[in-house]
Order: sequence, then C-alpha cells, then structure tokens
Amino acid sequence: MSYLTDAARSASREAQGEVTVPGQMLDEIVAANPARRSLFKNTMALSMLSIFGAGALSACGGDSDNTPAPGNGGGTPEVPEVPQVPEVPAGPDYSVTFTPLGNKIVADTVTVPAGYVAEILYSAGDKCEIGSIGYSGLPQLHPATEQLAGSQHDGMHYFEIPGVDPNKGGLLAINHENLDSKILGFTGGRYNAATASAVEKKTALSAVGVSVIEVERDASGKWSVKPSKYNKRYTGNTEYKVSGPAAAAVGASVIGTLNNCASGPTPWGTYLTCEESTDNYLDPTQAEQGYGWVVEIDPLNQLGMPTKRTAMGRFDHENTAYLLDENNRVAFYMGDDGTPGCIYKFVPSKAYNPANRAANFGLLDEGTLYVARFNGDGSGNWVELTQGKNGLTAGATDPGNFTQLATGTVITGTLVDFNTQADVLINTKAAARVAGGTLMDRPEWITVGGDKTVYCTLTNNSSRKRTDAANPRVTNRHGHIVRWNEAGNSPLATTFNWSLLLLAGDPSISAENEKGNIVGHTFSSPDGIRVDPQNRLWVQTDAGTGTSTTSIFGNNSMYYVDQTTGESKRFLVGPLGCEITGIGYTPDLTTFFINIQHPEGSWSSTAGWPARSATVVVRREDGKPVGA
Ligand code: FEO
Ligand code: CA
Ligand code: CA
Repeated sequence: MSYLTDAARSASREAQGEVTVPGQMLDEIVAANPARRSLFKNTMALSMLSIFGAGALSACGGDSDNTPAPGNGGGTPEVPEVPQVPEVPAGPDYSVTFTPLGNKIVADTVTVPAGYVAEILYSAGDKCEIGSIGYSGLPQLHPATEQLAGSQHDGMHYFEIPGVDPNKGGLLAINHENLDSKILGFTGGRYNAATASAVEKKTALSAVGVSVIEVERDASGKWSVKPSKYNKRYTGNTEYKVSGPAAAAVGASVIGTLNNCASGPTPWGTYLTCEESTDNYLDPTQAEQGYGWVVEIDPLNQLGMPTKRTAMGRFDHENTAYLLDENNRVAFYMGDDGTPGCIYKFVPSKAYNPANRAANFGLLDEGTLYVARFNGDGSGNWVELTQGKNGLTAGATDPGNFTQLATGTVITGTLVDFNTQADVLINTKAAARVAGGTLMDRPEWITVGGDKTVYCTLTNNSSRKRTDAANPRVTNRHGHIVRWNEAGNSPLATTFNWSLLLLAGDPSISAENEKGNIVGHTFSSPDGIRVDPQNRLWVQTDAGTGTSTTSIFGNNSMYYVDQTTGESKRFLVGPLGCEITGIGYTPDLTTFFINIQHPEGSWSSTAGWPARSATVVVRREDGKPVGA
C-alpha cells in the first residue's frame, strides 16, 4: 500500500475507525493531531498540483474519495513518476509518541522514558530570596528559613516575564503544602504546635506558602534558579489582605497562609494559591476563619499585597482552573478536597480587561459562587450559593457528610444560620450541602481542555457508603475522573452535561470494586491533572506509598491519558514515598517542571543529605517537545 492510496482512503478510513500500524498511516498521523490536517491537505494539494495540475486540487481538498486515477492508456496523458514521500514542512509535532515506562517501578529516583532527562532544580531549603543562605546539610531555623525554598512543593505555574523569551526564562510560582521536617531544626525532629517554641513556630510557618523564583535555561538546555529581584517567599508569617464579601467578618488582614496545596493562574497573569485547610493547625492561636481561602499573588509583584479572595468561598481548596469566553467572561472551577467534598465555580460579575492588567486585581471580589449538582441522567446544575436562595437562610438544616453513613442510617442534620453572604462564604461546605451540591469523592485538581471540556480528579474515598451516579463505588480506594461540558461551553452556564472518563484501579485486584476500567497503564488515586496547550491530558497520582499499593501500581507516577479512549501511558515515576504533583511548562513545551513531594528514601541532589521535596525539570535530550 502506498502513501498515496493511504492518503486517498484517509477520510473514509478515519470515519470507519479502522486500525492501522501505529505511526505508519497518514490518516493516523492526522487523526492523532487534527491540527496537522490542514498541513497535510496543503502539502498533498501541492504535490497533486505538480502531478495532475490544478484540477486535482478540488478532489484533494474536499475529504471525498474521487482523486483522479493514474492513467491507463488510451487518450489519458501519461502520468509522471510520483514522489516517494510528501514534503512536510519542519515544525513541532506534539503527537504523543514517547515510549511508556514499564509497570511496578519502585526505584528511588525519578524515572523518565528513554531520551529524556529529569534534573533537580529547586529543593526544599534551597536559596530563594537574594542574600539567603541555603540548606547545606544541617537543620535550619527561623529567621533564615523565611527566605529559603519552602517544603513539600505542590501546585505550580510558569509565568512569562515581559521582555524575556519565555522558552528560555520565566517565573515559577510554587506552592509549599507542608513541612520537610528533616531539614528544619525542630526539637525531637518533628513539629508539635502544642509544645513548639516561638522560633519553632515561626520556622514551621516559614516552610509553607509560596515561592516565586526566576528560572533560566542555558545554551545546553539546562535550567537553574537565577538570583533575581522577583525571587520572593510568601509564608505563614506574611501578612495578607482580606477582600470580598466576608472581609468585614474575617478582618482587614490575616497573618499567614498555609497548606498551600494546588493552584492556578488567572487570565491576567496572577497566581491563585489555594489553602487546603480551614484552620491554622501550625499556629492554633490564629482565628480559624482566616484560613481556607484562595489567595491571589502577583508573581511580578506589581499589583499590591497578596490578597485572600473571600468571594470564592472557604473550604479545603485544591486548585483553580478557568474557562474564558469570547467576551472575556470567565469562570473559575474549584474542588474541595474533603472526604467528601463538592465542586464549585465562581463567576466574576465583570469581564476581565485584557488591556489593563491592574484593573483585574479585584475582579475576584464580586461575583457568584455556585456548587455542582451531578444528576443521575448525565445532566448537571450549578446551584447558586447566595444568601436567601436555595435554602441558605437562618435555621437551615445541614445534612452533613451523609455519603459516609451506612444506608438506612437516619440523617438528622444540624441547624445552621445563613444570615449574611459572609455566613455563606465562611461556612461554604455547609452551604453547599444545604443547597444540594453533590458530595464527591475528594475533588483534587480541575483542568479545562482545548475543546472546553472540564476534568476533575476524584482521588478516592475509602469510607464512602452511599453511592450516586457521579460517585458510583462504595469504599472507593482508587478514585476516578469526571468530566463535563458547560451548556454552550459557556462559563456563565447554569447547566452542564457530565460523564466519567475512567474509574481507577487494576484488574489484578480481586475485589470487583477495585478493578476500575483503565485502558493501558493502571493507577490509583489521581490527583494532579492538566491539559497542556496542545490539548494533551496529563494525570499525576498520590496513592498510598505502602507495599500493598506499590506492589500493584509502583511508585506514584505521571501519565498521559487519551481524552477519547481513556488509554493511559506511564510517562514518569517518582522516587520512594513521594507524591507526583505540580505541572508547569514553557510555551513551546520543550521543558516540563514537575514537583516531587515528600520523598521518603534517599533521593537527593547531594549524596548523604535527606531526601527533600523538589521541583524537577523534565526535558528531552534532543530538545524537542516533551511527550512527542
Ligand atoms: Fe494537597 Fe488535596 O492535595
Ligand atoms: Ca493534591
Ligand atoms: Ca492528594
């Protein structure tokens, strides 16, 4: 079969879903990367033009199968010899072609496919702000730690710097969720808030929050942290402004952010770091309602104080992801990593202003918060969480986390008063339950795909006892991924349609409930998820790290998942005991930044030092786009 025959059959075979040898057939290349369809059409058209004349163009351009047949004698002009291969102009191809890693990898290193390298960039305790003295093997205390890399790297985003080639340099904003205790000078090696000295408390609070670092790539392709005016820490000791409808109740400012789990960017280039705890367990003397918010930070440090945006609700925030329409109206999706927790969206009242960055620093203070209700028929509703609506009044009954109660147990509920919008926002979890939001199996990250499909990982819920269509397994040990499309793909929609992308698990497990339905490489407990700018879906895991789990799945890993088939391919495996999280990348996708959180073996940038949470650079030795 020649490429010409294949090209001629491409459209019909694609429509029939015929299977071909991977990488061999033109239609497969096109199907795997629809963006190349026009490229191939144009290329083929030019080839045909040179062979058959202009009359061939219409045949090639219409997806029909009436390409002129080669001459067969008689009065037909003689056909010149055809070229062997069409000339494809050079350019990046983002089709996923990496050689997937094997099963059950439990090496104490970051394992990547052949032809890739993984290099440690920024570890807990490394220098951050100019003038700081980084970790050198001995535990450190506050105030030194206030200017160093925080611990337990989690959500992350790569921002461009005006005037800098973003494929060679930019800013990484990195969340620090919890403590890398081995490098901090706590009495007895562990932090105990009840007995900690004032210095120990400051030390613990300095290890959480956010790092902003400038990073740059040298001519060899290697990345490093640059001493820079942008390098800055936001910690549990920093003062944060409070804004939005609950500001009067919370206070004008709050000391500290903590449990900075995942995160997300805004269209105007700020960073939303998400607090995954509704109390300050590192410093319980602080009022609880100061925590559990989304905090907006300008990585360029031009727009003023970092600010807790109360209009977006208070719960165990995981991350944010936005959907933007052609009128610059935007919705931010957010998950509550509670057991169980709801899925929310916040729609600012006004459009974002692409012409004036500063004008958007306040957009998140006014708008409507919704909770998602997943109906059994595949439809869904966004239920408004506004005081006075949907049962959010004084004397409401909160049913609590009833999904964790055995079927037949009477749900008594708890009385709760929603007298103001501040009451709704400070007690968002209860408001969501009162309004009828669906209690999901621990929502982790949310991401919006190129076709505006929204995905959310539901990491697991081992104690679920009552199911619903969107959370179909009791004792859900391995989690699942749900996806939805807004009505009209509009961020302003109040209805959506949803389906399950996959149920995680492994067919080797004897319990039917734990087998899942993953095609390809199996995993447990999806957590990080992001569709990159080339519409490729990446999933990262945070499963238990005991032998019973790693003997089935190996160490926590990162996967490419086909959005249509659900097929999974293992791309990266982390060292012992870690969670894989944080996905950042340069615009050309030749560099990925990935976070290794809480490694427990001996993986380290320096032999003999304790394993530290770290950001690693993943890139190809040949400099081509990652994954392709
Ligand atoms: Fe910090 Fe829900 O992961
Ligand atoms: Ca997470
Ligand atoms: Ca997790």
